[in-house]
Amino acid sequence: MNQRKKVRKAVIPVAGMGTRFLPASKAIPKEMLTIVDRPTIQYIVEEVVASGIEEIIFVTSEGKAAIENHFDYDFQLDALLKKKNKTKLVEELRHISNLIDIVSVRQKKPLGLGHAILTTKNVVGNEPFLVLLGDDLVQSKVPCCLQMINLFQELPESYVAVQRVSSDQTHQYGIVEGDEIQDRVFKVGRMIEKPAPGTTESDMAIIGRYLLQPDIFDLLEKTTPGHGGEIQLTDALQALAMRRAMYAYEFEGTRYDAGDKLGYLKAIVAFALQHPELKDEFRVHIMEVADSFKKPAKKSK
Ligand code: UTP
Repeated sequence: MNQRKKVRKAVIPVAGMGTRFLPASKAIPKEMLTIVDRPTIQYIVEEVVASGIEEIIFVTSEGKAAIENHFDYDFQLDALLKKKNKTKLVEELRHISNLIDIVSVRQKKPLGLGHAILTTKNVVGNEPFLVLLGDDLVQSKVPCCLQMINLFQELPESYVAVQRVSSDQTHQYGIVEGDEIQDRVFKVGRMIEKPAPGTTESDMAIIGRYLLQPDIFDLLEKTTPGHGGEIQLTDALQALAMRRAMYAYEFEGTRYDAGDKLGYLKAIVAFALQHPELKDEFRVHIMEVADSFKKPAKKSK
């Protein structure tokens, strides 16, 4: 039986090793690297807040304390800034620590994304919840999570957000095969984690936004290590798709993989071009840079 429950909680796993971003991520969590004027993780928390969620559960690991500290209230800093009459800064820092209720659970070993989500079983309980990957940014008019919650109100099942990728990129993603049931919504048939080239015709790649029914926890408990020796969320999602209906949603917006060096650079440019104080000057700069890279016209003989 489908139960129409409100989506109140969001899980944000940030316990990964961040090897793609070494050496930058050796002492600083990659989620704390700055996109224009705030760390990546703050954009993700702001998306959750803008989607009407009440509580965030971070899955953390050793060395990720900076993420928790960023959203904490720092009494000493607050007092110091007040003494110096830095009112605007005081307000901004208070705003960050008041955004939403946050709890953390520890993933003691980096055994994979599926394992990271399983560690939140008791904190999430028996209700539907969102998962947002801590290094995946989405720029959109309506927050990506809210788009998924709106779908969930009509059809309370599980959802993965997907984007189209070219065939030479499918091996980097979890890929979904399915039939379109309405605009941008697909009933999931098969899901494959990082398929070998030529083993799927689908171009629908799972990105870091999920809305899941709590049944996923039982299935994660039964999931054995898969690709890369990790407990893969995609394997448990495939099992969930066999047990009850599951949908892929082609979200409206643009996604940036800020855990990857090139994706991170693209995110900085995209977010700077939207920044109210910086966008105009930055646009001029970008155009000048682009012009300077234009190939000189060939001289006619
Ligand atoms: P990634 O594939 O980006 O892994 O995980 P990673 O380890 O962080 O980065 P690389 O690939 O080594 O550069 C996707 C998300 O799942 C979390 C990560 O923090 C990231 O948000 N994750 C991954 C965990 O929380 N625990 C894990 O064991 C693995």
